[in-house]
Amino acid sequence: MPVAGDPVFDLGHHGDVEVEPGMVDLAVNVRSGPMPDWLAEPIAASLGDLARYPDQTTARRAVAERHGRDPDEVLLTAGAAQAFVLLARAVPARRPVVVHPQFTEPEAALRAAGHEVTRAVLPAPFALDPDRVPEDADLVLVGNPTNPTSVLHPAADIEKLARPGRVLVVDEAFADTTPGEPESLAARRDVAGLVVLRSLTKTWGLAGLRIGYLLAAPELVSRLAAVQPLWPVSTPALAAATACATHQAVAEEQRIATALADDRAHLVRRLRELPQVTLGAEPASSFVLLRLPRAEQVRRSLRLRGYAVRRGDTFPGLGAEWIRVAVRDRATSDAFVSVLRDVLEVV
Ligand SMILES: Cc1ncc(COP(=O)(O)O)c(C=O)c1O
Repeated sequence: MPVAGDPVFDLGHHGDVEVEPGMVDLAVNVRSGPMPDWLAEPIAASLGDLARYPDQTTARRAVAERHGRDPDEVLLTAGAAQAFVLLARAVPARRPVVVHPQFTEPEAALRAAGHEVTRAVLPAPFALDPDRVPEDADLVLVGNPTNPTSVLHPAADIEKLARPGRVLVVDEAFADTTPGEPESLAARRDVAGLVVLRSLTKTWGLAGLRIGYLLAAPELVSRLAAVQPLWPVSTPALAAATACATHQAVAEEQRIATALADDRAHLVRRLRELPQVTLGAEPASSFVLLRLPRAEQVRRSLRLRGYAVRRGDTFPGLGAEWIRVAVRDRATSDAFVSVLRDVLEVV
């Protein structure tokens, strides 16, 4: 759905609408695969407790411990997406700046709340240049690693964006796709105005459950909590948050991220065999951004061959020559690259 005020980029477009039943889904960056028992069991068990209103105490404490924070530095949200709405409502920003290309929902939420948004657009290969953010920005939103570029910015560069009197929001929805999370700021208390957003949607395949959280100073957490709807996170989602915060979960997350890095390297190798295709940047997450001629026709032809990829033209800073492709297992990537090779020969 186009968002008011932007006639060019459809900020309300998301990859899920590009996937039809039976298609190979390379458009949505949610990991598929069986849910581990340690996650499925508490979610299922929580169904026996639905008569009670949700109690966040255990989940909040577990998430805090996982990141070396205190419970009053944690706000559980109905997916990371809800955090954008809370920020847009609670931060009285005069000059909010969104670093693009990135997930479009932060800008959409800001606009919906009546903010006038300034875009700081990074050119390919999309390395963060803190000087592109205006000095008077009092709310800055940046993704790390960034969707859709798959670029992982050094934490040191992100920190350069912090200022007294500025709220700095780092969307780390994909941080758990990087082994060891080397550039995460989740545990940092010393960065002024920092808010780190996290999602449990991607790695754990929980997009339908709606669970994420943010980490920030207690005063900021309270301000954001004050505009949150009552009982925003359901009991099954709280059970998932608790389960995903254990040492076992974090260790498994790392194993998944390491395997993902291998699968991504394979996909990249195969894509580099295609002379028409250029990688937008060195990818570090569960998707890769590609630039190719006649990308729109290519995307449509891929659909006819059963492959859904994410269009790039709805992202400010990109355009019709870009597509984003999810990293899947090697067999899926091989099959995709061979279909892409055929398609590129005929479009
Ligand atoms: C970069 C980024 N941040 C946040 C979100 C929202 O995730 P959630 O499902 O936790 O609301 C998405 C979803 O696509 C995303 O790509």
